[in-house]
Amino acid sequence: MSPQNESLNALEESARRDLGAAVKADALEAWRVAYLGRRGRLTQVLRGLSELPLEERRAIGGAANRLKAELEALYQERRVALDEAHVQQVIGGAKLDVTLPGPPLPRGRLHIITQTLRDILRAFTDMGFQVVEGPEIEWDRYNFQALRIPPDHPARDMWDTLWIDYQRDGQRPMLLRTHTSPNQIRVMEQSQPPVRVVVPGRCYRFEATDPTHEWMMTQVEGLAIDEGISMTDLKGTLAEFARRIFGAERRVAFRCDYFPFVEPGMELRIDCFICGGEGCRTCARSGWIEILGAGMVHPEIIANVGYDAERYTGFAFGLGVERVAMLRHGVEDIRLFYQNDLRFLQQF
Ligand code: DAH
Repeated sequence: MSPQNESLNALEESARRDLGAAVKADALEAWRVAYLGRRGRLTQVLRGLSELPLEERRAIGGAANRLKAELEALYQERRVALDEAHVQQVIGGAKLDVTLPGPPLPRGRLHIITQTLRDILRAFTDMGFQVVEGPEIEWDRYNFQALRIPPDHPARDMWDTLWIDYQRDGQRPMLLRTHTSPNQIRVMEQSQPPVRVVVPGRCYRFEATDPTHEWMMTQVEGLAIDEGISMTDLKGTLAEFARRIFGAERRVAFRCDYFPFVEPGMELRIDCFICGGEGCRTCARSGWIEILGAGMVHPEIIANVGYDAERYTGFAFGLGVERVAMLRHGVEDIRLFYQNDLRFLQQF
């Protein structure tokens, strides 16, 4: 037997003996480094092979490689055994009660505007309105012209517009809708009376933001068209809505306002539920809070969508969901809704 073979045998013997003693994870790792690591004893032998004459290199190389495979297998076996023992020890130990419930996961919730929107839609669907939706990118024709706001009409100043950078015939025909009112036209074009719809949706304005203005907000549009619809129906519907959303004792009042698509146009106010009508910060000392815009649909609009304007009349209204949420929860800055600060949002 060559001296190399002899030392290989000695190496195997000592490796097996040391492995037998390595009963903890760190001892096992030390063993691996000592024998199989980059500077380990067996690795040294394998490196030294190149200096031997061919015959010996074959013989010893074969034996050394077999030993290497063997030691690696022994190492794996021991590692699996140690891991398993560790797991057994942990779950078997008195300290771990596997019947304890896990740590609670944080629960998601609906955004406060979604909650408010659902309450509003529910109030109207309970009164027989249907919910429909329309596009956020809108034609000038629907957002303005069909609502009796021609190009260059001063009423356009009521809605600062984000235009889409696309021109046709020297005009910019597309925009981000500034209100949900274009859906009045869309709905009437696609259906016959009677019509009773509410249309929720995001709207966009080219505006500097402040505590009461955001460049994006959510509106709900309402439209009812039928034979014999009068202002009484509008008043009754909106009073009922205000009671459901703001409380059973609410009093409502209507006041003249101008919107090109209604005649007459009005705004709805409710008596201030903070001060009860005496005057406070929320109602600007007036005792009343404006809630929405509304009116009787202009007969010209009814005729333009192809309805018989002699036979059909109707009312329309549009309200801001963020405004409703601000009033109901005493939020003083509209910008809080979309800053996504969880400390704010988790309150609702
Ligand atoms: N679209 C209007 C706005 O954004 C609100 C409005 C007023 C809608 C009167 C209506 C209405 O349907 O009849 O300011």
